[in-house]
Amino acid sequence: ATQRTLSIIKPDAVAKNAIGDIIARFEKAGLQVVAAKMLKLDDDKAGGFYAEHKERPFFKDLVGFMTSGPVVVQVLEGQDAIAKNRELMGATNPKEAAPGTIRADFAETIDANAVHGSDSPESAEREIAYFFGADEICSR
Ligand code: CMP
Repeated sequence: ATQRTLSIIKPDAVAKNAIGDIIARFEKAGLQVVAAKMLKLDDDKAGGFYAEHKERPFFKDLVGFMTSGPVVVQVLEGQDAIAKNRELMGATNPKEAAPGTIRADFAETIDANAVHGSDSPESAEREIAYFFGADEICSR
């Protein structure tokens, strides 16, 4: 089915000038960008986004990293967009990511892992609404 998913190009990938390369991979895989913006997260915005990880030992570092520079948040739309995006990203830990995936090619560590993507329809809905109003999404 046609789905939407939230993608974040993280501060490490933005710093590497890899925004275009990463978005090109989404487009070449048949996903369409239907919303996009660049922003600098603060502690509250990053912490709220990752609220489910609040008790994890890596939470503080995660928020510190996600606020270390600008990110590009996008809504991707297409056939099986959630799974397709996760395939393109590769495993969370770049050391375990399959060759040719975004994380294998652009990420160094599990913290600085280039991209985030929603992991289920429920999180996609929550994550998209966290960053975008309905009037900011341009279905095509
Ligand atoms: P992301 O998909 O953005 O979701 C949570 C992030 O926490 C994850 O990518 C990683 O960058 C980061 N993280 C750091 N340590 C871990 C860990 N041990 N397990 C899962 N995620 C981690």
